[in-house]
Amino acid sequence: MDFKAELKRHTTRVERGIDRHVPRPDTRPVRLHTAMRYSLEAGGKRLRPVLTLAAAELFGTLDDSALPAAVAIECIHTYSLIHDDLPCMDNDDLRRGRPTAHKAFDEATALLAGDALLTHAFAILAENYSGQLAAALVRELADAAGSRRLIGGQMEDLLAEKKSDATPSELEFIHLNKTAAMIEASLVMGGLVGGATETQLAALRTAGRHLGLAFQIIDDILDATADSATLGKTAGKDAKTGKTTYVKLHGIAESRRMAAKNTDAAVAALAAFAGTDAFLRSLAEGMATRAA
Ligand code: IPE
Ligand code: IPE
Ligand code: MG
Ligand code: MG
Ligand code: MG
Repeated sequence: MDFKAELKRHTTRVERGIDRHVPRPDTRPVRLHTAMRYSLEAGGKRLRPVLTLAAAELFGTLDDSALPAAVAIECIHTYSLIHDDLPCMDNDDLRRGRPTAHKAFDEATALLAGDALLTHAFAILAENYSGQLAAALVRELADAAGSRRLIGGQMEDLLAEKKSDATPSELEFIHLNKTAAMIEASLVMGGLVGGATETQLAALRTAGRHLGLAFQIIDDILDATADSATLGKTAGKDAKTGKTTYVKLHGIAESRRMAAKNTDAAVAALAAFAGTDAFLRSLAEGMATRAA
């Protein structure tokens, strides 16, 4: 398996899917649809939708049937970034190598573009799936993006800002929810489209949980160690704003060990798919050492 070629194959499909399933920028109101596409088309690693497509392929789903679910997830993820960057949240100027949405447009437009991407994600699911599969996908995505998970994680992330006595378990709650929830859902939704059994869905969920934790731990490390040009977002912000991060609580060396441990746990969970899991296993193995 040529990992780079496989990654390219998946990301190319995702880009095509985004173009197909998101309203054209000349749709009225043009400013809103232009802003939605501005953030979506800025690129990004497309990790979550790639996970969805790869998870579906574990079950032999090689056609585009998981693509709408993958695009829906990327819409939610992109909305979460637009809102995460707002002045009332992390107040960031750079995202995906471009000025953030509220800098390129204005705060109200960024807020509305985020709202619209969130809503549109569920429209994509409703338009492209039916019956029990549609209900299961909506439920999975709504749970992952909801108040107990992504939004709950974001709430506690803000509450923990400048807190000097945050505990490791509070920090784990933040990372499990603001980040790992959507990574879990990405794999599980791919599994749902592929027809996974309950046991297989549980294995995907476990893999996603550990992969997501590793991913956010590395995000914290990169904020402290990489430069803005490499990241496409402003480096060094977490320390400046007093965020509660793995680097702050555990230091860089221990955080790296924790990321590696979670990567190993993700790979172990993927062993349930031995034989078809080469791409996902490589992706998971590379997570703890990613440089951007
Ligand atoms: C950024 O996610 C937010 C985190 C959960 C760390 P990504 O690092 O996946 O951002 P993009 O999609 O590549 O821009
Ligand atoms: C954001 O975490 C997670 C979500 C957007 C849900 P961060 O605030 O660390 O993400 P970056 O570093 O701005 O991408
Ligand atoms: Mg944040
Ligand atoms: Mg942020
Ligand atoms: Mg970060």
